[in-house]
Amino acid sequence: MFKNDFLTNINEELENLKANGLYKGEYEIITSQSANIEIFHQNSKKKVLNFCANNYLGLANNQNLIEIAKKTLDEYGLGTASVRFICGTFDLHKKFEKKLAEFLGYEDVITFSSCFSANGGVFASLLDEHDAIISADLNHASLIDGIRLCKAHRYFYKYNDMLDLEKKLQEAQHHKNLMIVTDGVFSMDGDIAKLNQICDLAEKYNAILLVDDSHATGFIGENGRGTPELCKVEGRVDILVSTLGKAIGGAGGGFIASKKNVIDKLRNKARPYLFSNNILPIVASVGIEIIDMISQSKYLIKKLAENTLYFRKKIIEAGFTIHDPDGVHPVVPVMLGDAVLASKFAKMMIEEEGVYVIAFSFPVVPKNSARIRVQISASHEREHLETAIKAFIKVGKKLNVIS
Ligand SMILES: Cc1ncc(COP(=O)(O)O)c(C=O)c1O
Repeated sequence: MFKNDFLTNINEELENLKANGLYKGEYEIITSQSANIEIFHQNSKKKVLNFCANNYLGLANNQNLIEIAKKTLDEYGLGTASVRFICGTFDLHKKFEKKLAEFLGYEDVITFSSCFSANGGVFASLLDEHDAIISADLNHASLIDGIRLCKAHRYFYKYNDMLDLEKKLQEAQHHKNLMIVTDGVFSMDGDIAKLNQICDLAEKYNAILLVDDSHATGFIGENGRGTPELCKVEGRVDILVSTLGKAIGGAGGGFIASKKNVIDKLRNKARPYLFSNNILPIVASVGIEIIDMISQSKYLIKKLAENTLYFRKKIIEAGFTIHDPDGVHPVVPVMLGDAVLASKFAKMMIEEEGVYVIAFSFPVVPKNSARIRVQISASHEREHLETAIKAFIKVGKKLNVIS
């Protein structure tokens, strides 16, 4: 039984979160993930336009992929009922890993049940107390937690400050192996890491470079090969980590791409791989198809880029402040500052305008930089973007954010 004060403290904490606009509620979606979805709200169904999924290529409810998934369910069933090294490796896992490695230009790939798991296993498997990690300060929570699980010494640099990175590399020179760790895209801001300069510094100071490209794989870069392609540093990023839970279908799963012996070591040492089931068979078969789709046609990548530029231009013209007006990423943070205001803004967008957006506030983003993080998708048509912009203007005026 819980002691009384334990539950009282939890209740107080939850009330505090609510009072400060920091409580994260959840809307129930009762359709598949798409531009048009239905949510269950105040005991009734409500149709809304979706502007907050990571469904970058709009593939989460692609009919062809669903048919492939159904066929895979018939052939392979629900899953492996085992971890990979016991009896949980299907031929589909191997085919998909090979396909991903070829697509991204690496020798080999290892999949995990999520990118969070991949990041939870990669550092402790490859580094020890003689080594050091130099990590960007805005890195994703899964990188932060993965690094905590590893005995390597930790240094942090300001994510876009290359002088600071160089300083930390110099300070860390006495350690055996150095690893620079960065998100390819910082997902709260849509900022792209300065990978060309980071690669130069990694080479100058003999450091390994690990990039988490979860918000880039499949759609950033001309061919969707992510931030290394966009920044023209392909072949210079030693370890690439990413998710299958966003552009690559959205069902879930993660992976790490690198040299063959690095991947071999991970298969033998990474605890989330050794002690947890791997991706579902449908994720592997659908993933194979998605890599083929984006290799054969750039249509979705181009449509997403066009949608992004259109929305960014129009929201700036409407008078809103976005994080980086020159940015190109489909994450478009509309800056509001105050957490209570941001949460009220998002609520009005959903309930009054039928546009599903979410407010982000501390601790997910720094204090006083609360925002609505709009996420553009290739599933959006021009009229969806226009409806969202009109709704932003209407709510922005009501709340005196714009005049
Ligand atoms: C940069 C980054 N890394 C890792 C993850 C975790 O991905 P997954 O959902 O596959 O665990 C996310 C998801 O939000 C992310 O944005």
